[in-house]
Amino acid sequence: MKIKILTSALLAAVLTFTACQKDDGTPMGPVCDPCVEEDTINAAYNPQPYELEVPEWFPRPVLPPGNPLTVDGIALGRHLFYDPILSSDSTQSCSTCHNPQLSFTDGNKVSRGVLGIDGRRSSMAIVNMAFNEKGFFWDGRSATLEDQALLPVEDHTELNESWENVLEKLKRHEEYPAMFRKAFGIERKSEITKELASRAIAQFERTLVSYQSRFDKIVWEQQGWPTDAEQRGRDLFFVEFANNSLDHPGCSHCHGSALFTENNYFNNGIDSVATLNDFADYGLGEVTGVIYDNGRFRAPTLRNIALTAPYMHDGRFATLGQVLDHYASGGHGVENEDANIQPFTLTEQQKQDLIAFLNMLTDTSFVNNPAFQSPF
Ligand code: HEC
Ligand code: HEC
Repeated sequence: MKIKILTSALLAAVLTFTACQKDDGTPMGPVCDPCVEEDTINAAYNPQPYELEVPEWFPRPVLPPGNPLTVDGIALGRHLFYDPILSSDSTQSCSTCHNPQLSFTDGNKVSRGVLGIDGRRSSMAIVNMAFNEKGFFWDGRSATLEDQALLPVEDHTELNESWENVLEKLKRHEEYPAMFRKAFGIERKSEITKELASRAIAQFERTLVSYQSRFDKIVWEQQGWPTDAEQRGRDLFFVEFANNSLDHPGCSHCHGSALFTENNYFNNGIDSVATLNDFADYGLGEVTGVIYDNGRFRAPTLRNIALTAPYMHDGRFATLGQVLDHYASGGHGVENEDANIQPFTLTEQQKQDLIAFLNMLTDTSFVNNPAFQSPF
């Protein structure tokens, strides 16, 4: 840790020195003429609006007026998302923990940052973010994608860098200043800020829309037929009552709608605790300070769920089979467990049927979309 601080301080000193010096090498103040010239970015600003493709069976996206999607904004965000320049030792980018092939997760129980320290939670899929207005992260602590994108850089369990250093690296970079100008119309390198960087990343993330799974093809586009197992799994997932009995999975209560989530927060019964103060991770309660919210987490989308194991906020379940066993067991009767967490019968056949249905939500054209891959 000490060594790290020392090197960045040295780096910062070197940067200030080389960024602004007279011909004979002696440093000048930042207001000197050559510096101002050096600061100007030569590139055209000609923003092209980008129209997000949203299928008619989806809700309308939530696009903040302060950060309209543009072709150049998205291109910049995509570069930043995949660029290890955001980390202290240039080894990790956002994509290290958000890999497109895994629906933008990392396949680990919990994520590990550049220092080799494990974080406390499992990486989340970055899918259909443009439709969520109920907060980001497992606990909803970021209200917007713009706010969210500011955090991984300085998180010591993630990229462990300072924004100050990142901005210095971006300003000195051969291409980024022109990309920032094209995206946001700034005229000087010194106008590059972390807020602009996060706006660009948020723009890229809003383009990550998944709607071409086998389920979408069959149900919404009337292309092809489900197998018998898929059809039975679908009925188990969606139908609330079987013969007027509560003996039923009822998954769609919390993972419903065309998005397979309504981004609400629940205690889905995974923890056995004596009191609401005993959860290892307070989840939503950590954000709201309301004890009843302890142990409540956001119900994430089940789109591409076959690609995002292991499961839950702490990656405790390795397979979908284990997830289903948990739900069938009906939780632990903790005070704030949601009423829809009830024991139900799950035969081996029903389990396979539900898994067949969940596999229908995999969207290979999403994970392989060339526009979503690394630009490097
Ligand atoms: C070391 C791994 C790691 C890195 C690097 C990382 N993330 Fe994450 N990301 C996570 C984890 C873990 C979570 C869930 C954390 C939580 O809920 O507290 C998460 C959550 C998110 C979410 C929330 C998704 C949702 O549905 O609410 C977004 C968006 C996101 N990350 C974007 C980014 C961006 C952008 C970057 C780069 C600037 C980045 N991440 C870098 C591990 C990482
Ligand atoms: C009471 C609401 C509720 C019901 C009913 C429910 N879930 Fe969940 N589900 C959640 C919440 C909340 C989480 C996240 C919990 C956590 O990580 O602590 C979750 C997580 C999951 C995950 C892991 C997601 C990931 O990205 O790691 C899967 C898979 C899942 N649920 C499938 C199902 C299935 C299948 C059913 C029906 C058998 C179901 N759920 C019923 C609320 C619910």
